[in-house]
Amino acid sequence: MARVGMPRKFVFVCINERPAEHPRPSCISRGAAGLFEAFREVSGQLGLVDVKVVASGCLEPCMVGPTVFVAPDNVWYGGVTLEDVQLICEQHLRDDEPVEFLRIGREEFELSPLQGRSDLPPGLIPPA
Ligand code: FES
Repeated sequence: MARVGMPRKFVFVCINERPAEHPRPSCISRGAAGLFEAFREVSGQLGLVDVKVVASGCLEPCMVGPTVFVAPDNVWYGGVTLEDVQLICEQHLRDDEPVEFLRIGREEFELSPLQGRSDLPPGLIPPA
């Protein structure tokens, strides 16, 4: 079946990559590339032609990546694994019920990569 019109949902999967020495982790080093492919595959298997899976740059809550954002639902997921993809696709993308145990919020956005780093000045947040 061909996709027609505006997607009902967008799934942004962060696949951002940083140098290994960067203080903030990057989702690509936590398996995000495979996650992106799995979302495409499973959503296709479920016939979710009105869901668009998009590879994204950094979405900001890097400390709890891999990060996934579902729009227009304004639902954020963190620490997503390959084992979670089927559940998110079926329960949220198909049935409109977010997967609560994977959700993240403001607190996760505010986690600092500098916690525990005594070698850097307090308050210094490296660029994304
Ligand atoms: S690197 Fe993925 S959210 Fe920042």
